[in-house]
Amino acid sequence: MAIQFYQNISDEIKGIFKLDTKETSYVMGVVDSEGFLGHIYYGSRLNDYRLAHVLRVKEAPFVPSVNNRDRGSFLDSFPMEYPAEGLGDYRESCIALETRGGNTGLSLNYVSHKITEGKPALLGLPASFGEKSVCSSVEILCEDAHTGVQAAFLYTVFEDVDIITRSVRVINKGNEELYLTKVFSACLDMDNRDFEAVSLHGSWARERHIQTVPVSHGKLSIESVRGESSHQDHPFMAVKTKGTDQDHGEVYAMHFVYSGNFKVMVQNDQFDQIRMTMGIHPEGFKWKLGPGEEFQAPEVVMTYSDEGLGKMTRTFHDFYRNHLIRGAYKDKKRPILINNWEATYFEFNTEKLIAIARQASELGIEMLVMDDGWFGNRFDDNRALGDWIVNEEKLPGGLKYLVDQVNKLGLKFGIWFEPEMISPDSDLYRAHPDWAIAIPGRVGTLSRNQYVLDLTRREVLDYTYESVAKVLRSANIEYVKWDMNRQLTDIGSAYLPAERMGELYHRYVLAVYELQDRLMKDFPYLLLENCSGGGARFDPGMLYYSPQIWCSDDTDAIERLKIQEGTALIYPLSAMGAHVSDCPNHTVGRVTPFETRGHVALAGTFGYELDVTKIPAQDREMIPEQVAMYHKYNDLVREGDYYRIASYSENRYYDCYGVVSKDKKEALYTFVQVLNRPNYHSRRIFFKGLDPMKEYRIEGEEGVYFGDVLMKAGYLVQNMWGDYKSRLIHILEVS
Ligand code: GLA
Repeated sequence: MAIQFYQNISDEIKGIFKLDTKETSYVMGVVDSEGFLGHIYYGSRLNDYRLAHVLRVKEAPFVPSVNNRDRGSFLDSFPMEYPAEGLGDYRESCIALETRGGNTGLSLNYVSHKITEGKPALLGLPASFGEKSVCSSVEILCEDAHTGVQAAFLYTVFEDVDIITRSVRVINKGNEELYLTKVFSACLDMDNRDFEAVSLHGSWARERHIQTVPVSHGKLSIESVRGESSHQDHPFMAVKTKGTDQDHGEVYAMHFVYSGNFKVMVQNDQFDQIRMTMGIHPEGFKWKLGPGEEFQAPEVVMTYSDEGLGKMTRTFHDFYRNHLIRGAYKDKKRPILINNWEATYFEFNTEKLIAIARQASELGIEMLVMDDGWFGNRFDDNRALGDWIVNEEKLPGGLKYLVDQVNKLGLKFGIWFEPEMISPDSDLYRAHPDWAIAIPGRVGTLSRNQYVLDLTRREVLDYTYESVAKVLRSANIEYVKWDMNRQLTDIGSAYLPAERMGELYHRYVLAVYELQDRLMKDFPYLLLENCSGGGARFDPGMLYYSPQIWCSDDTDAIERLKIQEGTALIYPLSAMGAHVSDCPNHTVGRVTPFETRGHVALAGTFGYELDVTKIPAQDREMIPEQVAMYHKYNDLVREGDYYRIASYSENRYYDCYGVVSKDKKEALYTFVQVLNRPNYHSRRIFFKGLDPMKEYRIEGEEGVYFGDVLMKAGYLVQNMWGDYKSRLIHILEVS
């Protein structure tokens, strides 16, 4: 059994929960007659549940139930599984409320629990899933006797993949309405062992760069209050013991399955205990909960690795591939697409698109994606969002004609939408100015000349859905790029009553989930790719609806090394939208070899974003080769184990990563020489992930080597001349 409950351990410890995956254990204790739920242990798997001795129940003057005077010192030092605000734990809390009388404070204490096989779905929210045979769950019910607020903590153990997921459901069992002002989803209290925090940061066109900093006194907070997970911060944090690298050391990681405002925090307290928390950002959040009503907080995915960051990465990859990503393309190769954004921007018409498609089809490309600019009066980005009607000036004969022509050329057809938006200069806004999120009477903040639709309104949500669905029904459209090009401001709704205005941010995210859920149900064959000004909504929440997400608007191969390294730290390569684009690169002006652009894009979904009729002939001639390369390697890239070998962000000269098949018969390593160094004739690379006892050959080279030789003695990458050069090294077991 992956989840066990042991009763009556000692006078103070009423029970112990032990959750086991194949290689980890997670242990909690119910202490004192009041039933505080304390965190005892998370780490490599333990044989025994008898861990009561490490829970500091006697150090601080303890037992609040018989010595209320010292409740404060207890609450401020005890490792809480889910700390509540206002009664004496001054560290970061997970839950806070306001009663009708304006009072705060609560204490959630154990009432009961239920262990079940499988995992229940979370109402209205994306969440991981698993058959009864692969996971089991415990729901621990706690209550604040004073207000009648209950919290049900759901823990699910995915035994084979070393993942534990957590979420919280708050239920108002009292007689009065109250307001939740904070509901986080997870907390992890541990002794500080010289931890370092790893997180992901960036901006537009440079998303998810890795940052590692010491966990020092005070709080390190990673957050978004932008209404989406954002370019800037990412809802992920790992703490690792000092010196932990790809292959050694301990790592505790949390990742949030949510696409809106979030706060991830690590705090080192006065006793050098750390607290990590993760949840919806409390700023702008106030949820009215009437008697009998419930609030479901999103899910956190946790893992522990004692074999460095690499193992954490592979655990997340396996977990997301098998227990989060869904749909027709879950385990399938994706069509190689060509997108016209960087090729034409807004200046295209049917003829131009067909010319691109014709040339693309001759080269082996499999799908044409028509990006922004095909609807309403959309000749630039100042107008027309919301008017999802084909612009026949650009597309004479309409959408069906274009799609049919593209299909005749042997290509699938995909289309771009930005359904959540409304331009002030649009027929939709002229008809329904109150459909935009806005503060009444205040001039709204424009961003990219647009406002955000108030999707908390049912009629707006239905209109939005129908606008997309109608277009999809009108022609043979097999792919949608769902974009979102601005963040939320001016949080006001003409629909929500005053006491519910604090619900807008979260309701907005729920509405986006509802829209995409409907889309997946009504068009189950569709390949959905989420996007947000590049990669501002690249998060596990969106991954539940779309098996791939556009990684970044920066398509420069060298910038991409950093972006893809950070993204691949947690996400499988199959999820990373990656394209070959034209040079000089439109974002940084860099010129890189076409070959390198292809090699780097191969680590993602692979496609093109250029005018294939205009690029230099020698680049165009390379496309059939790249297409063949994609078909040759994509199964391995999509399904294999990822290993980081060298990081250009750290060493400034070269990058190397590899994917090894699960049976270790095949591996593909990508080496990129970013900057050449004078008098460096080769780089010695130590491969990872091979079977030490298997014999391998390197495609295109003489010689046979045992796996241990290639991993321990290494391999020389030679004869790399120039900057931005790359090489693929394909290794096969000798049969
Ligand atoms: C965003 C996307 C781009 C492109 C443009 C169109 O920036 O990330 O790929 O679709 O919008 O306006």
